[in-house]
Amino acid sequence: MNIVADRLKNIPPYLFMELRDRIKQMEACGTDFVSLAVGDPVEPTPVYIIESLRRAALDPSNHQYPTDEQRGMHAFRAAVARWYKRKYGVHLDPEDEVLGLSGSKEGIHNLLMAVVNPGEVVMVTDPGYPGYLANIPIVGGKPYPIPLLAKNGYLPDLDDIPESVCRGAKVFFFNYPHNPTGTCATPEFFTRLVAWAKAHQIFLVHDNPYSEIVLPGGEKLSLLQVPGAKEICVEFNSLSKTYNMTGWRIGMAAGNPAIIQAMSKFKENVTSGIFNAIQLASIKALDDGDEDIEKMIRIYARRRAMALAEIRKWGIDSDAHVGKGTFYLWLPVPNGMTSIEFTTRLLDKAHVLVTAGSAFGKNGEGFFRMSLTVPDDRLACALERMRRTLD
Ligand SMILES: Cc1ncc(COP(=O)(O)O)c(C=O)c1O
Repeated sequence: MNIVADRLKNIPPYLFMELRDRIKQMEACGTDFVSLAVGDPVEPTPVYIIESLRRAALDPSNHQYPTDEQRGMHAFRAAVARWYKRKYGVHLDPEDEVLGLSGSKEGIHNLLMAVVNPGEVVMVTDPGYPGYLANIPIVGGKPYPIPLLAKNGYLPDLDDIPESVCRGAKVFFFNYPHNPTGTCATPEFFTRLVAWAKAHQIFLVHDNPYSEIVLPGGEKLSLLQVPGAKEICVEFNSLSKTYNMTGWRIGMAAGNPAIIQAMSKFKENVTSGIFNAIQLASIKALDDGDEDIEKMIRIYARRRAMALAEIRKWGIDSDAHVGKGTFYLWLPVPNGMTSIEFTTRLLDKAHVLVTAGSAFGKNGEGFFRMSLTVPDDRLACALERMRRTLD
């Protein structure tokens, strides 16, 4: 008897889980290897956030089902609204324009369940975050890749999308600062995108978990800053990357009230919300965490400069591709290898794991992604081993 449902058959294997298994196997064999494959900050969550969690966890009233269940505590939603106002000048009504999430990844799944019918087309960027392609088949949606090419600065060429595709598409998932290329969008592009989406009645889902990880030269943006964006858009964000809280599983959706309501309805029937203590600690992070964000940006800028100084010596044309956002470097594979050949060779010979560009879509072929979320000495060690292997 085949116990597994058909809908699981179309889900591509989850890249990071596969990598994690591989890492565990190598570690079990005692191999000293460095993983630059996963975007998971190694620095701890700031202490005052942990203290706030500790205090909240000691309060028995927080041991019961979370307050306001599916939508998130009112106090958390209000903190999200304050954060958006302070950072982006965006007004959000915590009552119906904000939803608490267990990370933005949950938002991707919830939104598809809440909005997309079987057979409907969902646009995704290529290259793009693999989490979109993994979730679209679950709802029976049809992914349509929108190429992001270096010659267009890794922004979609909206004029190049066939009119017939635009007419049939329901949702467009994208994210800037962009995983994997690190590209930051511009206010002009976001304005054009919102106008295009309105003209074609395509819902925009801006998955924005790297919004704060922007180095000098890039611009921190919310799609909700575009006047009228809320009519056609929802934005996800998350405390994962911004406050070194990947393991806490907390994030938010903000924007169009009808989408927020639909997602809430789905969430209501699946989870009973987020642990109150985590929400309370997250309020502290959102209200008081700006200095820590700046500290992390300085760390990523330092590592980025260190890595690029080395990589340029290898004859890799980094400047044309590496963006100003995220903590990733997007780099062309040297010597005409495929991205899988290159990453496999690095793993076998240098014991350094980077991510093959093809894991992010067809247009990722010929590239690899390196994450800067490892301590400086491990990054230096990885770069040295990569250099020797490439020699
Ligand atoms: C573009 C993008 N969206 C969503 C996620 C998931 O983040 P979260 O921890 O908020 O679920 C990631 C994580 O790498 C990501 O890169």
